[in-house]
Amino acid sequence: MKRLIPVLRADEVELDLIMLIRTILAATKEISFRVSQGALGGVLGSTLDENIQGETQKKLDVIANQLFKDMLLNEGNVKSFASEEEDTVVAVHDNGKFVVAFDPLDGSSNIDINGQIGTIFTIFPAIDSLAADDEKQFLRKGHEQVAAGYVLYGPSTMLVLSTGKQTRCFTLDRTHGGYLLTHEEMQVPADACEFSINMSNYSKWPQYIQQYIDGLISPKGDGAPEYNMRWNGAMVGDIHRILTRGGIFLYPQNALKQGDTGKLRLLYEAMPMAMLIEGAGGLASSGTQDIMQTRLTQLHQRVPVIMGSKKEVEACLSIC
Ligand code: AHG
Ligand code: MN
Ligand code: MN
Ligand code: MN
Repeated sequence: MKRLIPVLRADEVELDLIMLIRTILAATKEISFRVSQGALGGVLGSTLDENIQGETQKKLDVIANQLFKDMLLNEGNVKSFASEEEDTVVAVHDNGKFVVAFDPLDGSSNIDINGQIGTIFTIFPAIDSLAADDEKQFLRKGHEQVAAGYVLYGPSTMLVLSTGKQTRCFTLDRTHGGYLLTHEEMQVPADACEFSINMSNYSKWPQYIQQYIDGLISPKGDGAPEYNMRWNGAMVGDIHRILTRGGIFLYPQNALKQGDTGKLRLLYEAMPMAMLIEGAGGLASSGTQDIMQTRLTQLHQRVPVIMGSKKEVEACLSIC
């Protein structure tokens, strides 16, 4: 089985970017190990702190964030980084070629139940004319990403990665500690009768989302396939399922609150996932715009998310 670095070299990914990806993955291997230790590793439970998102930080949110920080602060190719768990941009090296944004631990509410959790990251070329700590380094459009990926800490640890070509999947070989290529080219299946949304928010959704989901769950009776619902509470887990067997993932805005943009963050969650989904032939939208075409205007900005199999996302958008 092919190892990650030769795969990236064969893709002609520039060496500095490969080195940076390797550094990020070193952090994920450490997180994977800590996660597998569970209560024995002291990683369960909450802290008393809140992050800038207004969420109580779990111990593992803080540990994973610190592991990323330690690795990236020593990586010469990084100009600055931004994290879901950091209030502001962190400057690293003035002459670094790239900026990195990450959700160190996605699916925090699953930590204490031994459920699926993950890490999401994205990389942009640094803007030379701007200071390292300038937030504008990150006020970019999705299509400017040079790499995006997530690591799913499940029964096995898997990396899904795009450097602008196809979306590939690697599995962590715990015996040697390397990510090995296990899926050369992921393709979101076009037809899939599975949807993923937090149904408990039904009364808060915009009317078109209610109407779309009503259509999916209404009795078909004409031989049309019935839809099934899955919700992991961790975007990495839900998107991994959709990349594997198709379907649609939605996290809409709360229409009862004027101007609400939903829960998920554009930079740390929606943009990297959009690159991976679209690289696998799927579609990613906020309902009004392609996520890959949306420009970030604030570091921790949130965005409604509709992504997955092309036909299903188009069906949803057609009643928008
Ligand atoms: P995070 O743990 O990084 O804050 O992200 C959690 C997100 C995302 O992973 C998931 O899709 C969503 O929150 C789950 O939200 P609900 O609480 O509505 O289930
Ligand atoms: Mn969080
Ligand atoms: Mn998250
Ligand atoms: Mn998180």
